Amino acid sequence: MVELSRITKGHQGRILAKLEYLNPGLSKKDRIALQMIEDAEKSGDLKPGQTIVELTSGNTGTGLAIVCAVKGYPFVAVMSKGNTIERARMIAALGAEVVLVDQAPGALPGQVSGESLALVEKAAQRIVKERGAFRADQFKLEGNLRAHYLHTGREIIQQSGGGVDAFCDFVGSGGSFAGISKALRENNPETLCYLIEPEAAAIFSGGEVENPNHKIQGGGYSMRELKFLRDVRVDGYIQVTDEEAIATARRLAREEGLFAGFSSGANVAGALRLLKGPCKGKTIAVLLCDSGLKYLSTDLWAPLETE
Ligand SMILES: Cc1ncc(COP(=O)(O)O)c(C=O)c1O
Repeated sequence: MVELSRITKGHQGRILAKLEYLNPGLSKKDRIALQMIEDAEKSGDLKPGQTIVELTSGNTGTGLAIVCAVKGYPFVAVMSKGNTIERARMIAALGAEVVLVDQAPGALPGQVSGESLALVEKAAQRIVKERGAFRADQFKLEGNLRAHYLHTGREIIQQSGGGVDAFCDFVGSGGSFAGISKALRENNPETLCYLIEPEAAAIFSGGEVENPNHKIQGGGYSMRELKFLRDVRVDGYIQVTDEEAIATARRLAREEGLFAGFSSGANVAGALRLLKGPCKGKTIAVLLCDSGLKYLSTDLWAPLETE
């Protein structure tokens, strides 16, 4: 973990960032890919040589492609055309088959709404049926939550020197939030855990979906029912705008030398907000979920003048 000592200047308290982009597939999702596959191998749900299928915004697909390459399973990644092309190409480079699904009408490039995701889900279900495949469903398989409970959460405790006062996280499947908060609260039941969501689709805090097409890829899908969040205490909700996530990701790069994506910007923006409010003087943990390299084709990074 790295303390963000520059970006927090003028604030009371600390932000400790866990650099999940240092995983082999450049995101935190490598962890859940390995856990889901090894859990299924142990339980017998996954047969030797069986095809594996998953719906992915790219990161879980990359993790699964790596695990499948090493273990010898054929892998099909089903993705929305709204996700960045770098992700699809990386998955294909790792030997997987990539199926790209058209976005819902009206959706913009680089933005994946719940509606677009529903189309990807339909395609994934069809492919599973056609190929008799194992579905590595990150929204359902406990391996998602367990990976973050057994590893990410416990590493945060160890690497922060005994634990943190608070944790905040931009939610997609909720696996990171649920698994990490479980580990942190086992270590210290007082740990405060805050859920971050897009301001224009703030459904967890009771808001309406004004614009499902936000830019923070990997989460904020406007799904009210997330299995992993069912029995998890949430100490508060933070809404982050696209602009705030982008501005903070750029600050991370320029001020801290940490090259991460939109949701990492959202996480640090949320933590900065907490330091000004209920977590003044406290130590907050965040994940830098994936690498900025995955967004080179988006407006997160400015094109060079010569391009
Ligand atoms: C870049 C990125 N950020 C955040 C998330 C959300 O994480 P989780 O599914 O654990 O809630 C994801 C999930 O795909 C992601 O890829």
